[in-house]
Amino acid sequence: MTVVPEHGLCKASPMRIGIIGGTGPAGSGLALRMSVAGHQVLIGSRSKERSEEKVAELIAQWPDHNLKIETGTNEDAAHCDLIVVATPWDSTATIVGEYADALRGKVVITMANALVKVGKEFQPLVPPRGSIAAHVQAEIPDSRVVAAMQHLPAKELGNLHHHVDSDVLICSDFPEAIEIVSDLVAQIPGCRPLSTGRLSNALALEAFTAVLLQLNVRYKTRVAPRLTGIPDVDPKSGRNMKLD
Ligand SMILES: NC(=O)c1ccc[n+]([C@@H]2O[C@H](COP(=O)([O-])OP(=O)(O)OC[C@H]3O[C@@H](n4cnc5c(N)ncnc54)[C@H](OP(=O)(O)O)[C@@H]3O)[C@@H](O)[C@H]2O)c1
Repeated sequence: MTVVPEHGLCKASPMRIGIIGGTGPAGSGLALRMSVAGHQVLIGSRSKERSEEKVAELIAQWPDHNLKIETGTNEDAAHCDLIVVATPWDSTATIVGEYADALRGKVVITMANALVKVGKEFQPLVPPRGSIAAHVQAEIPDSRVVAAMQHLPAKELGNLHHHVDSDVLICSDFPEAIEIVSDLVAQIPGCRPLSTGRLSNALALEAFTAVLLQLNVRYKTRVAPRLTGIPDVDPKSGRNMKLD
């Protein structure tokens, strides 16, 4: 087990994960998966009541899973060990800025995609600084921002009967943060974490979601990416077994 010294996070150990904007389908689906994997999860919201409603709904929906999910505000979520921001893209950078002190030194995952629907077409937008993730990192320069999980369909995430069959592309300017997030991703059945390098690649990850959504429309399905030609990846950690 590797300990990341600055924050005492042990990659393989259960942690307390806060989800800012956790009442939506993406955040609550991820909360469910992380709770089932053994982490304590707090669903944050702008309204404590909405958080309570969502947590009650999840517990009622999955009574056999002994879910360890707490209710709270977004500020409560920001005080957890590791934070996921799951608000709409146009509020993501602003909201992390509000909690910059609480987020200092922590791993912060952004899963936002900047997209617009024009008629039946999904089109990617280029946000300030080139990607949501880069904008988030600029707002909280003392945190370790990771872009990940942009491509996971929320409906599948939120259905524990379903394996989310997907590669999960991850990037950050902090390699140890990529390792922590890879370990979390590997705990979602069917998901394979893949490190794609520096945070500058978030632009491509976020924009690619428009392509996936367009495929959903065209083929009347919900697609998720699965890359071929990477044979030596440890499915549990995403590390290259030959090189790392
Ligand atoms: N849906 C998917 O399949 C999917 C998959 C991968 C990634 N994503 C990304 O994940 C993020 C969340 O997706 P989602 O579909 O769950 O989004 P969503 O339902 O539109 O929003 C999630 C939550 O954000 C909060 N929120 C809404 N507007 C806000 C604002 N202006 N400021 C602060 N908080 C606000 C709301 O919670 P409260 O009202 O309780 O505060 C809402 O429940 C998005 O950035 C999306 O691009 C989505």
